Amino acid sequence: MKEAKIYTPNYPLLCSPIKLAGLTLKNRMISAPMGFPDLTQDGLLTRDAIAFYELRARGGAAAVTVGEAVTHYRTGKSHGRSINLQHPDVLAGLTNLARAIRRHGAAASIELAHGGKFSAVDRLPGERVRDAVKYGPADETLPDGSVVKQMPHEMIGEIVESYGEAAALVKRAGFDMLLVHAGHGWLIEQFLSPATNTRTDEYGGNAINRARLAMEILDAVRAAVGKDFPIELRISAEETFPGGYSLKDAIEFAKLIESRIDLLHVSAGSNEERFYETHPSMFMERGCNVRFAEEIKKHVSVPVGAIGALGEPEQMERIIASGSADIVYMARSLLVDPELPRKVVQNREDEILRCIRCFMCLAERMHTQTRICALNPVIGREYEAQFDPQPTKPKYVLVAGGGPGGMQAALTAAGRGHRVVLCEKENELGGAVRSEKEIPFKMDVFRLIATMKRRMELAGVEIRTGTEVTADYVREQAPDALIVAVGGEPIMPVSGDKVVTAENIANVSGERVAVIGGGLVGCEAAVHLAMKGKSVTLVEMADTVAADANARQRPALVGQLYARCSVITGLKALRTEPGGLLCEDREGKTRLIEADGVVCAVGSRPRSALVDSLRGTAPEVALVGDCVKVKDLREAIFRGYHAGLDI
Ligand SMILES: Cc1cc2nc3c(=O)[nH]c(=O)nc-3n(C[C@H](O)[C@H](O)[C@H](O)COP(=O)(O)O)c2cc1C
Repeated sequence: MKEAKIYTPNYPLLCSPIKLAGLTLKNRMISAPMGFPDLTQDGLLTRDAIAFYELRARGGAAAVTVGEAVTHYRTGKSHGRSINLQHPDVLAGLTNLARAIRRHGAAASIELAHGGKFSAVDRLPGERVRDAVKYGPADETLPDGSVVKQMPHEMIGEIVESYGEAAALVKRAGFDMLLVHAGHGWLIEQFLSPATNTRTDEYGGNAINRARLAMEILDAVRAAVGKDFPIELRISAEETFPGGYSLKDAIEFAKLIESRIDLLHVSAGSNEERFYETHPSMFMERGCNVRFAEEIKKHVSVPVGAIGALGEPEQMERIIASGSADIVYMARSLLVDPELPRKVVQNREDEILRCIRCFMCLAERMHTQTRICALNPVIGREYEAQFDPQPTKPKYVLVAGGGPGGMQAALTAAGRGHRVVLCEKENELGGAVRSEKEIPFKMDVFRLIATMKRRMELAGVEIRTGTEVTADYVREQAPDALIVAVGGEPIMPVSGDKVVTAENIANVSGERVAVIGGGLVGCEAAVHLAMKGKSVTLVEMADTVAADANARQRPALVGQLYARCSVITGLKALRTEPGGLLCEDREGKTRLIEADGVVCAVGSRPRSALVDSLRGTAPEVALVGDCVKVKDLREAIFRGYHAGLDI
């Protein structure tokens, strides 16, 4: 008889329960607040918004926190669209949302917020009306020209009351706990901050006065929900701008309010002014903000949670084991892989899809008011995805190309019951992503290959590496459907022995390197080489660099680039010469960039000839990724996903 295998979790502390007031959370992994604009214009929840949060509950998080719900809508709306807790019709949507989270065994939590001086008192989503009055702790004119008025006493009273009413409302809707947002530069932090709170009444001046609003709000909330209902407080651990509060001040504040709360959520930075402290970029260490939680935890007895680029099970287990925090929160890691907590609990960590911190989620929210994730094609269509068609008859699907688009197509098709064979001409999977192996800050992109490979194996995809798909091969295999994902080929404006493509960056010679092309790939290559200690000059024909990077990633990347490399725009590479790279400016003047090695990063073109030769070789043919139009990882994965669904 087969011996039963006894289950022991690989990460026992992460998987252990924790009690907060009258509530027991099933593990230590909480889905951090993520707000998205798919609400109605009035700030009511939609079916799609509910499905978004439900996905994270189904994925095994101990609690799922709904993003910014505004308690005093007239003055506190923090984004183009935020949940309006004062709308007379909000209760039904809130109730359905709490049910959708709770039915999967997760605690339903919701963040109560007020944007204060950063409130977007707008009409159109994303469009701020500059001359509308905003209220903050004191009179101020913001850098965008908008005027902030000192909040009068009556308004403070009204706002405190609105928190109490909102707390009663979310409890009635069935939420198990709530989070009061006192960080990220929003109203409560504005009052805590000596830099912005210059009041001279009982809400300003000394630390206790500056904390008065927080205390009154917490008291109003407690009065509304009772002692068994957990109240979590989110703070930013320090303010890094002149005159802001220090970590020491935050510790004093934590000591002052700990008797009023059940969980202290230690974040950092702010949305409007210190964005990369709140949302650590790929250039920062995973868990770079944990040190704040660790320090604060030494001074309070209430449980403390840590956040910031977390998602590695091993690291999160260590955080709890070492006593740095009691709980870990994840936002982006659960956007890309909502099932992460379930995979941790089930010892399936090799199936976890890692967030690559590309910022597409946040940039797209600003840019098009929609929700997407570069690696997870379900994000933004969580509701519809439940109705994706199932195949009526399994087919034989041949996938040509083992890059991300091909792998995603294979995974999706196999997940729907088709027999799938994936062929890759090289001996390794990964396509263009393979080159990320060399770049430490892109390691999570590189790791995508291993995760997708593992998932394909589990889904029963047969992988044939070292196998080129030609028209003859397809005819011989006679698949019912062919998915062509053969990628692109690099464009080489110059040639010579010292020239390598960005994909072969590991082989670049010498200490002085010229990088041709200031797109995303070229900028990342330049930063990487400079980090390795090389002297790098980046040459770009256009006037700007990283124009293809998204609005959130671009400042982080460009900051690194200018700090580490010499950047010359308006310059065209002509040819390599013994001393380096000969270039020409717009006036036709030539200039030699001294370099021992040259990296070409001017992009790729689709492998059109190969694609054309494969058209019409099977009853169904779909084209995916760079072989159709050279774009990005997200496009390849999305096209792959839908090609897999369409069969
Ligand atoms: C798409 C997105 C939406 C977010 N929305 C909110 C929000 O509504 N309220 C909030 O306090 N923080 C919000 N955040 C910040 C996260 O809660 C979290 O603090 C931040 O992303 C850092 O955690 P991470 O590194 O795990 O992503 C959002 C983050 C993302 C990525």
